[in-house]
Amino acid sequence: MKKALFSTLLLAGLAINAQAQDFPEDIKPLMTKYTCTACHKVDTKLVGPAYTEVAKRKYTPERILELIATPKPSNWPGYPPMMALKVPKEDALKIAGWINSLAPKKKAKKS
Ligand code: HEC
Repeated sequence: MKKALFSTLLLAGLAINAQAQDFPEDIKPLMTKYTCTACHKVDTKLVGPAYTEVAKRKYTPERILELIATPKPSNWPGYPPMMALKVPKEDALKIAGWINSLAPKKKAKKS
């Protein structure tokens, strides 16, 4: 009986942890403006890969800019091709910097 209650609480806790991350306040308007949100989420696969997955590729911000302007679908087997998007450099750099900030920090266990 006690055990069942504990399991229920544990599951509830996991469910809360599993909740998807949302875009931070300063990035969200850009994501919406350039329609990125239609295909990307922070940490969940949508049409395109989660940005946390993109971050693991450790692209330079300049490379991310290129990949937004000229996507390379061969980088992501199993995904449909992303369409090329025109994002002004300043905004694209902000987005790129944020994507890279999602990369796992060294100290933690590797996933
Ligand atoms: C129509 C859906 C769609 C939209 C809109 C979209 N993406 Fe993508 N994106 C994808 C898909 C699918 C992939 C994986 C396949 C590919 O790269 O072509 C991807 C891949 C990426 C990658 C990884 C590129 C690589 O080669 O590793 C980045 C970075 C990215 N998107 C950023 C953005 C940003 C920033 C925006 C908004 C300006 C955006 N995407 C809008 C669908 C989309």
